[in-house]
Amino acid sequence: MQVQIVSLFPEMVRTVAEYGVVGRASKRGLLSVNCVNPRDHAPDAHRTVDDRPYGGGPGMVMKYAPLAESIQAAQALLPENCPVICLSPQGKVFDQAMAKRYAAMPGLVLVAGRYEGIDERLIESYVDEEVSLGDFVLSGGEIAAMALVDAVVRLLPGVLGDAESAQQDSFMEGLLDCPHYTRPELIDGRQVPEVLLSGDHARIAAWRKKEALGRTYVRRRDLVDRLNLSEEQRRLLDEYLREHPGSD
Ligand SMILES: C[S@@+](CC[C@H](N)C(=O)[O-])C[C@H]1O[C@@H](n2cnc3c(N)ncnc32)[C@H](O)[C@@H]1O
Repeated sequence: MQVQIVSLFPEMVRTVAEYGVVGRASKRGLLSVNCVNPRDHAPDAHRTVDDRPYGGGPGMVMKYAPLAESIQAAQALLPENCPVICLSPQGKVFDQAMAKRYAAMPGLVLVAGRYEGIDERLIESYVDEEVSLGDFVLSGGEIAAMALVDAVVRLLPGVLGDAESAQQDSFMEGLLDCPHYTRPELIDGRQVPEVLLSGDHARIAAWRKKEALGRTYVRRRDLVDRLNLSEEQRRLLDEYLREHPGSD
């Protein structure tokens, strides 16, 4: 997958892209992250990318022309029909279903805003989707863009090894993940659940399903409400609620 990020802070993006799963995917040629800096596409000698807002008020607004040229330059480096996504607190809130959809695409153009935002006409003319990380305001779109890239790259075939498989992560099956434990068996009087030490793989699998269902029900009932639970899932959830009285 090829990702072009339009950003005034390319170093910020490049640094994040060097680490962890994203960095490894880049080194293995499964992902390429490139930055286009609107300053390099500003028409004037001062490389101006922002200006005062019409109508007055605080802050500056990112100008149309440098962003338009940057997006065109980014698109020229990608296969046709890759979406232009603008990171914005006003966009659709990003979720795993969107990450899966983007992971099926050969490339993405991600536009990171700064200041008060972007001239609205640029969004109308060039942006296919506005995507938000959540109901809060960041100072810029770079962290949001890299959060999106991180979530998407985990889903690309061959990026995660079997041991790290994304398939059991939260939201992949519409549920939160089950709890995890590692050595030692006892910490501050807290014991690892006995079933995980049993070596009985069927019991362990059933326990994990039950815990995932139970904690999703307790923490995010909205997610459970969206599912059509199977007989087995209903039985496991009842069992969880019996074992955790008061959590309902
Ligand atoms: C300070 S914000 C501008 C906020 C804008 N004035 C508003 O209230 O909608 C600057 C940039 O940060 C990015 N940003 C801020 N919050 C975000 C969020 N929740 N999700 C994605 N991007 C965000 C966007 O790219 C935005 O253009």
